[in-house]
Amino acid sequence: MERTIVTYPHPVLAQKAKPVTEITEDIRALAAEMAELMYANKGIGLAAPQVAESLRLITVDLSGPEKREALQVFVNPVLSCPEGEVESEEGCLSVRGYRTTVRRAERVHLSAQDLDGKPIELDADDLLAICLQHELDHLDGVLFIDRISKLKRSLYERKVKKWLRQKSA
Ligand code: NI
Repeated sequence: MERTIVTYPHPVLAQKAKPVTEITEDIRALAAEMAELMYANKGIGLAAPQVAESLRLITVDLSGPEKREALQVFVNPVLSCPEGEVESEEGCLSVRGYRTTVRRAERVHLSAQDLDGKPIELDADDLLAICLQHELDHLDGVLFIDRISKLKRSLYERKVKKWLRQKSA
């Protein structure tokens, strides 16, 4: 089955994803497919729920879809030790036609496993810290539009309703 990126308001995006219990060939294939979809859609990060797989797995490549030289896959990632505060503009492949400023921690610590089951521990700052927080939110059913003001959110909801009406018309 060919996977695609699902968009808000798809219900899987609001679910808490389940841990990966075993790193099987299927999980490796899923990660490879996620990386391809991330690149094809010009993203720098993707979480499994965005391809309708409710699992705690993310792909990140800050070098971008042109270079594709720094792919990282994190299995069952956990963030700790948030420090500082930073605001930056975010978008999401699952949130169509919208970007806005979101406040995040400036630095975080990541614990995860790679696709060989080896433990990963890393301190992230700058874009990596923001990207990890954005992707980890997906695993808890949270989108960046859940972190903006009620007013901004209601304006976005109006746009979505209009799109959905147009689609069904
Ligand atoms: Ni996203």
